[in-house]
Amino acid sequence: MAEAQLQLPADKAERYAALRVEIAAVIAGETSLTARYATTASMLTHAFPDTYFWCGFYLVDPLKPRELVVGPYQGTLGCLRIPFGKGVCGAAAETRETIIVPDVHAFPGHIVCDSRSNSEIVVPVFDRDRALAGVLDVDSTSFSSFDDIDARGLEAICADLLTIP
Ligand code: SME
Repeated sequence: MAEAQLQLPADKAERYAALRVEIAAVIAGETSLTARYATTASMLTHAFPDTYFWCGFYLVDPLKPRELVVGPYQGTLGCLRIPFGKGVCGAAAETRETIIVPDVHAFPGHIVCDSRSNSEIVVPVFDRDRALAGVLDVDSTSFSSFDDIDARGLEAICADLLTIP
């Protein structure tokens, strides 16, 4: 796996496209959703070591459907629960839309898990029935780290996550 990751293209859009193929190949046939989420968080983090400071999933709690609970992630300690509508993750869960935040300190209600985070992107994850399963949260220590290329790349990977057989 390490060798394959070294061969990822330098161009960001191409890197996401290659990564999408690699992640799909690893998770195909896997029945454990935890394994799918954990694999994705790991492969994304190692594909973008200079940008990704925290990368992981907040999943809809089946027992509290208006609350996200932390799932598999890579990075420093993340907060455990985020209500819908709170912070960037909660806003993305509420709106079911990708949110790019160039400066987290300027985002109303941003939840600080690690004060070193300065920008982030959050992408919703849907199941086969288009029900919200959770969100993918990626944080960076630099400002303005994420753009439309990250959004489209991560949306494509998240679209596969729970839908490929
Ligand atoms: N920054 C997020 C909280 C999660 S952590 O950064 C890991 C937010 O406001 O939704």
